[in-house]
Amino acid sequence: MSKRGGNPKAVRDSRFPPSIFVVYLVAIFLMVGIHTGLLVGMIKRDWPQTIQVAIPILYWTALAAGLTLYTRSRIRANYEEPMHRLAEAAKKVAEGDFSVYIPPTNTSDKLDYLDVMLEDFNKMVGELGSIETLKTDFFSNVSHEIKTPLAAIQNNAELLRREELTEKQEGYVEAIYWSSKRLSGLITNLLKLNKLEKQTILPEIKTYDLCAQLAECALLHEQAWEQNGLEFDADMEDRIMITADPALMELVWNNLLSNAIKFTEPGGNITLTESSDENEIRVSVRDTGLGMTEETKKHIFEKFYQGDISHATAGNGLGLALALRILQLNNFQIEVFSKPGKGSIFTVIIPKSKKEESKSDE
Ligand SMILES: Nc1ncnc2c1ncn2[C@@H]1O[C@H](COP(=O)(O)OP(=O)(O)O)[C@@H](O)[C@H]1O
Ligand SMILES: [Mg+2]
Repeated sequence: MSKRGGNPKAVRDSRFPPSIFVVYLVAIFLMVGIHTGLLVGMIKRDWPQTIQVAIPILYWTALAAGLTLYTRSRIRANYEEPMHRLAEAAKKVAEGDFSVYIPPTNTSDKLDYLDVMLEDFNKMVGELGSIETLKTDFFSNVSHEIKTPLAAIQNNAELLRREELTEKQEGYVEAIYWSSKRLSGLITNLLKLNKLEKQTILPEIKTYDLCAQLAECALLHEQAWEQNGLEFDADMEDRIMITADPALMELVWNNLLSNAIKFTEPGGNITLTESSDENEIRVSVRDTGLGMTEETKKHIFEKFYQGDISHATAGNGLGLALALRILQLNNFQIEVFSKPGKGSIFTVIIPKSKKEESKSDE
């Protein structure tokens, strides 16, 4: 019934054509013939009865095993193997990889319904990929266009702040200044995330001391936790070397720390710990803040998701999406543990001996 573009041939609608059943029929007839021949021969020669029983049993056991194995191999080659390939490809697409392509199992003159399905799948993934490219390109073009006028607004607001103004005017200028600053942060994050989403490798990888970096990031937030009346503790080793992109990892730590500060009420505690064993390094940011419900936890790594509306003005929901993407590119992991009202623990797990070369293309 269905026709492929340019190919007027109807596609086969079964992977197990009638010919295969003819093969089965002929084979079984043959076996029955041999069985009868065997019996007649044994009776003629007057073989003992036990042998006359044993030989047909052995004969049929061997045949049954042979047929079963043959059927199984046909099912596997014709059905399971292409299905497994499809399942694997679908999983990759679900994870955002639109470069997958499944070759058809037959040549184009012998297409069957499964080949057609694989072809349609390839077409669908191609379409999705081009929409994704269009979307990211659009995002980055618009973001770049917004950046220049926004910088002008911000600079001029900054200049105005230094002027002698009435209280009312000062209020207006402050609003313009902080709004433009926030927008500029959003644009910067969007561009960064866009770039990271397109990237598959990190070009700026270095081996550096993680503890020094963590200490620096913590210090950067000193003012923030003091202003918020929070207690801060750190427990780290003296020195531990990791191989990663330091500028991007700094973003991860800053995002985790700023979230901990943002979602913890005055009087709360924030703890930064780093520990390692022979396999991995674990960095945890723990807070005694608001915590999250299971439902919120499911979505926190999505772009623009903000679980807690009351803090929405101080952020844009991109922080954890960025952090996750950076960790994925480095092949690091993140675990979240949280209870509403009790607090949250975000743990980054860095494997110690990274041998990704062998599995980078798997
Ligand atoms: N330490 C934390 N405690 C409670 N909730 C958190 C914490 N960190 C993240 N979240 C939740 O995850 C959401 C997404 O975080 P993020 O991507 O950093 O965006 P933003 O900080 O801009 O809201 C937050 O809106 C909040 O609901
Ligand atoms: Mg954040």
